[in-house]
Amino acid sequence: MNEISIDSLSCIGCGKCVKDCVAFALRIENGKAKAENGCIECGHCYAICPVGAIDMPGYDKTGCSEITPMSNIDGDVFLRAIKSRRSVRQFKNIPVEQEKIDKILEAGRYAPTGANSQNVAFTVLSKKQEEIERECVKLFRTGVKIGRKFSNRLQNADISDTFFFKGAPLVIVVSGHDKVNASLASAYMELTANSLGLGVIYSGFFCGCAVINPKIKAQLCLPKGHKPVTCMIIGYPDVEYKRIPPRRPLKLKVL
Ligand SMILES: Cc1cc2nc3c(=O)[nH]c(=O)nc-3n(C[C@H](O)[C@H](O)[C@H](O)COP(=O)(O)O)c2cc1C
Repeated sequence: MNEISIDSLSCIGCGKCVKDCVAFALRIENGKAKAENGCIECGHCYAICPVGAIDMPGYDKTGCSEITPMSNIDGDVFLRAIKSRRSVRQFKNIPVEQEKIDKILEAGRYAPTGANSQNVAFTVLSKKQEEIERECVKLFRTGVKIGRKFSNRLQNADISDTFFFKGAPLVIVVSGHDKVNASLASAYMELTANSLGLGVIYSGFFCGCAVINPKIKAQLCLPKGHKPVTCMIIGYPDVEYKRIPPRRPLKLKVL
């Protein structure tokens, strides 16, 4: 556990950290903030302290100084960008710069997790991409061959060598114990990738293969107890969309 440390000389006892602590792990004693057990290391006290009296000693704080509130981004522009997002299935044969990969991963790292577990891992397939795709294609071709006996839809299914990763240069598998946390991280990563000019497709097919085939799961070397939750295929889009497609009506109930 890294926990927090409080510099009692700088602490002004304002109580803002106590009020904002979800874990009831802070109190004011003799006019100073004091840490109790149960800290989930969410960093709200670190973020809110007006005098910077709270530290998180075990953490790397590079890039943690400047705040850019989301409200600085025009809400209408942001929503329009969200609606303009498309799953991209055609990619240019151009590598993704390391700087952009780092930013996408950073977005995943900063996504919220229940009880601040931060228990989401990111696996870049890199050199293993081709080998893993080969294994998935092999598995899928066998499945389709069997499926053709039962389904007309599969008669024309052509599982090409690049069926899974679509010739894209970057594949990231997001894993966790918990589907919600890994899915949220993936959504943050997708929008960040889009803002960097990149396109993304999630491969549910890949995750299906990785869950049912022990060889593919072993190739991923995921942390213990982790399941592959999303597989994000990323690259420069080789396709341009001209308009936002319609969606079904909002399913909304106001109680
Ligand atoms: C969890 C998930 C898994 C998906 N798996 C696949 C897939 O295996 N292959 C594929 O072509 N598209 C896949 N998609 C993309 C969806 O088909 C796509 O989001 C949907 O058709 C709507 O299109 P849009 O994302 O452009 O709005 C997946 C999307 C999600 C969210």
